[in-house]
Amino acid sequence: METNYKHITVKVKKRIAVLGFNRPDQLNAMNRKMMDEIIAAIGAINGNDQAQVGLIRGEGRAFMAGADIKEYASQTPEEFKAFQDCGIELYEALENAPKPWVAAVNGYALGGGFEIALACDMILASDTAKMGLPEVFLSLVPGGGGTQRLVQKVGINRAKEMLFLGGQYSAQKLYDWGIVNQVVAQDRFDEEVLKFAEKLTRRSPSAIKELKRLAQLSLSPIPFDEKIEEEGKTVSKLFHGADAKKAIQNFTNKS
Ligand code: COA
Repeated sequence: METNYKHITVKVKKRIAVLGFNRPDQLNAMNRKMMDEIIAAIGAINGNDQAQVGLIRGEGRAFMAGADIKEYASQTPEEFKAFQDCGIELYEALENAPKPWVAAVNGYALGGGFEIALACDMILASDTAKMGLPEVFLSLVPGGGGTQRLVQKVGINRAKEMLFLGGQYSAQKLYDWGIVNQVVAQDRFDEEVLKFAEKLTRRSPSAIKELKRLAQLSLSPIPFDEKIEEEGKTVSKLFHGADAKKAIQNFTNKS
């Protein structure tokens, strides 16, 4: 796997691919080069059979403090549009991935950083993390799906509060609101996050791939009975597959 990135690191170990944002002196603010690297790395991890789970984290005191505002200042309208379009590609690559992606938020996750976390399947956050969408302070709105995914995940009134006020929210608050899956003590962060990812590696990848697709399908506007029909087709397909046959056989042998 490509390891020659400038602003990120990628390591695959024990079937967990760890994608690390690595511009700590700039709080991992995402410039265009970094965004291109992240998209390439997500694609490579999604296609790598050695990686069963993707884990994203940031080096230093931030997960990611959002898009690089200094780079924004020099972008032409075309460059800005291209940046936003690539952002959409990035978030969708996580959401539509055939494997689970976990955001391990260790510090600031603001703007695009928080949008990356929102596009992941789950968020684990340290008890010192701060998350939010501060674009309102720049007289902007989020451009990476933040307005839409936040409403889906937290409900419209809480989403509006976060969006209108642009505040920084603690992990505990967002856990209470149902966006953060687990709050982890900062001094046990690396250990606990890996433990969680390892647990995911012990689950069937073929089942998780379908579970993720079906969970996403629940958010689509197609009729409910079509969603249930799709679930039915999927369980039948898996039932006749080799993995389920083996797991069911193992269970009956043990009983
Ligand atoms: N874009 C570009 N540079 C950023 C950045 C961003 N989104 N966020 C932080 N940085 C840079 C700072 O400019 C500073 O660089 P410098 O040392 O070269 O001056 C460095 O990262 C450290 O940030 P600093 O602001 O000094 O740290 P802090 O602890 O005082 O504040 C934040 C931390 C996250 C509250 C503050 O950096 C911030 O508000 N960042 C912008 C967040 C944002 O609006 N994101 C959405 C963008 S659309």
